[in-house]
Amino acid sequence: MRKTAYFLAFTLVFWLSPFIAELKFRATPSFRGDKPSGLSALHAQAPTPTVVDSLAVKVLTGLLAPDFQEEMNHMVQAVGGSCNTCHVRGNFASEENPKKVTARRMLEMTKAINKQFFPDHKPKPGESVLGRVTCYTCHQGEATPKAPPGQ
Ligand code: HEC
Ligand code: HEC
Repeated sequence: MRKTAYFLAFTLVFWLSPFIAELKFRATPSFRGDKPSGLSALHAQAPTPTVVDSLAVKVLTGLLAPDFQEEMNHMVQAVGGSCNTCHVRGNFASEENPKKVTARRMLEMTKAINKQFFPDHKPKPGESVLGRVTCYTCHQGEATPKAPPGQ
């Protein structure tokens, strides 16, 4: 039992390490610019990003770590708040925050809308991989989409 726990903890840390490194890169604003800098040189040497593969990733599968992170950023922008709006602090894989469970349903819904109605839309770099309709389309930065005036 204890052995299994150690093994799981080790696997998690092992999986997260490239991802955490990526998060640090992303968190540095100067890194986003086009100008060459010490940091982009650093990035050029960074190891090839890995695909985010976790039992708790059920919809956003097959994405490279930077693209997965970008998608999380899109969701923060769309529904307001922060990563902790949906995630238990310090444990992104946890399903204990009901907002995360709702958000996954929303991911499924958004994917289904795009598949059925906008199958030919190809997202440009920097856009959500979900497609033409995104979380932002409805939420516009708010936890609950706006009601029509007077309702
Ligand atoms: C609106 C809710 C929401 C917000 C805000 C959000 N996430 Fe997530 N996050 C999710 C959902 C839902 C999943 C699971 C996706 C799936 O099942 O495909 C997830 C999965 C993850 C995972 C994978 C965890 C694992 O091992 O299974 C990481 C890492 C993560 N998010 C990081 C972040 C970071 C960093 C931020 C802030 C920049 C953030 N998330 C903001 C909802 C959210
Ligand atoms: C087609 C419109 C639409 C899209 C697209 C959409 N949502 Fe929603 N979302 C809603 C509506 C409407 C509600 C309020 C549901 C209710 O009142 O029960 C909601 C509620 C939520 C909630 C719960 C808010 C709360 O305060 O409990 C979360 C979290 C959420 N959405 C996240 C997302 C994320 C993340 C995406 C993109 C993957 C997304 N939504 C895409 C319409 C949408």
